[in-house]
Amino acid sequence: MKGNKHPYIILSAAMTIDGKIASKIGDPDLSDEEDWKAVHKLRTEVDAIMVGKGTILKDNPKLHINYYNHNGYYRIVLDSNLSIPINSRVIKYRPEVYPTIICITENVSMEKIKDFQLKNITIIKSGRGSRVDVVKLMQILYQKGIKKILLEGGGNLNWSFIKDNLVDEIRLTIAPWIVGGKDAISLVEGEGFTKMIESPRYILSDVNHRNNYLILKYKKVK
Ligand SMILES: NC(=O)c1ccc[n+]([C@@H]2O[C@H](COP(=O)([O-])OP(=O)(O)OC[C@H]3O[C@@H](n4cnc5c(N)ncnc54)[C@H](OP(=O)(O)O)[C@@H]3O)[C@@H](O)[C@H]2O)c1
Repeated sequence: MKGNKHPYIILSAAMTIDGKIASKIGDPDLSDEEDWKAVHKLRTEVDAIMVGKGTILKDNPKLHINYYNHNGYYRIVLDSNLSIPINSRVIKYRPEVYPTIICITENVSMEKIKDFQLKNITIIKSGRGSRVDVVKLMQILYQKGIKKILLEGGGNLNWSFIKDNLVDEIRLTIAPWIVGGKDAISLVEGEGFTKMIESPRYILSDVNHRNNYLILKYKKVK
């Protein structure tokens, strides 16, 4: 990324004490109302919210804002083969306020792309590999005027951003639950680093707690 401008990335997640962002069957219900309010507040401060295909398939989120008045932002989904259901809420729910961008690889057929474009979805192609090239994508989004992104998971997409050292800030809520399970998705999945020294470096910039929830903020060491 040297010399290239790219969006500021805030990774936001709620996780259990044991680092899981959903249970083994995909139950994601670990935030309380206060936490949702904080997430929605954060959404008012960015140009786009980004999630991976897995989160769309499991949770079918609207990625909207309650609690605050707001003019909207982009919803961005990374879906290499353009395979999310065309009736997903991220496509159907209030596109006039939250326009949706789906990021895919170069390998998707024009026919499939047209189906989504007919629903007013913007398609961005990034990379020729099996998955969306996130480094290249960051440059494309920046050029499109997207300067600040809230990365809302899930674990596999988080890894791609951590691996390439693209996360500038982390807002983490630790909920007072422990669910265990090797198949329960962790905050960061993927291949993982071999040594601790390979990890991007963060400093703890803020700590708060309420109702047994712990709220942590980290910033990347420049
Ligand atoms: N607690 C929280 O804060 C929170 C937040 C969000 C999600 N979640 C939970 O997380 C779970 C979903 O996480 P997940 O890890 O299964 O899915 P995910 O990270 O949402 O999506 C991963 C998928 O995105 C696609 N993708 C495209 N380009 C990618 C790239 N460069 N790197 C990584 N993925 C890329 C891949 O599918 P293709 O190869 O087909 O493109 C990949 O399988 C759900 O259970 C959800 O409830 C929890």
